[in-house]
Amino acid sequence: MGGFSSVGLVSVLRLVSPVVCKNGSVTEAILIGTTSKLSKATSDSLQLSDSSVPLSSAVKNLGVTLDNTLSMKQHISSVSRTCYFQLRRIATIRKYLTTDATAKLVTSTILSRLDYCNSLLAGLPSSSISRLQRIQNSSARLVLRKKKRDHITPLLNQLHWLPVPARITYKINTLTYKCLHGLAPAYLSDSLSLYVPSRTLRSSADSLKLNIPHTKLKTAGQRSFSFQAPSQWNTLPLPLRQQQSLESFKSALKTFLFSK
Ligand SMILES: *[C@@H]1O[C@H](CO)[C@@H](O)[C@H](O)[C@H]1NC(C)=O
Ligand SMILES: *[C@@H]1O[C@H](CO)[C@@H](O)[C@H](O)[C@H]1NC(C)=O
Repeated sequence: MGGFSSVGLVSVLRLVSPVVCKNGSVTEAILIGTTSKLSKATSDSLQLSDSSVPLSSAVKNLGVTLDNTLSMKQHISSVSRTCYFQLRRIATIRKYLTTDATAKLVTSTILSRLDYCNSLLAGLPSSSISRLQRIQNSSARLVLRKKKRDHITPLLNQLHWLPVPARITYKINTLTYKCLHGLAPAYLSDSLSLYVPSRTLRSSADSLKLNIPHTKLKTAGQRSFSFQAPSQWNTLPLPLRQQQSLESFKSALKTFLFSK
């Protein structure tokens, strides 16, 4: 899984900032911002030296569709279309497959798509996330041959699948662990800093916590990696934050998320 999965929304948008995405020989430009800021933008193109690039309302990069308010709605729609198409195909051959084989097939064709670049989805409203959760619910039913009315939570546990919101938390915390252990690119780790409590307030529970930057916009600043990473990391229990290796961290994190 390439670039974007590790990018997260690194320091998202300075309210209205031009992002240029190269697409083959064609260069596309997009102006990203809040709806109100965008409505004030006057130009519909970006001047680059001697050429003028028209502004698009969405651009695709590394398989992720970014829209100009970063709502990710178009991306989620495109993931949904592909996943339902794959699910219907698997459903037609389900009766020839064992449960185990179906689970493997669904993991590689559906869950991998739900997970791809999912750090970009952190902080989105639950109405957006639930569209992806519905796909995972249908996948679990298909694997375990359950009906619509069956409760999904026991099925997800049986399959050992974390639900979609927990998968996003898992991705963000794993990236944070990598940042703190020199396993992530500098542009990500540089966006985090360790919290240093004042002498009087010092307690061991605060060790290895991160500073949460002050941000105003729920739709923008609070979706950035620099905000999501420390906010989520600080809620992990100390023994989890103290894990010695990435592998042991991932496994302890998964156990922690399942227990919630
Ligand atoms: C590049 O963008 C154009 C216009 O949006 C689109 O039609 C084309 O399919 C894109 N090409 C690639 C390689 O993504
Ligand atoms: C998926 O299943 C869970 C657990 O049964 C349920 O709470 C949730 O509403 C379902 N989500 C969707 C979007 O269908």
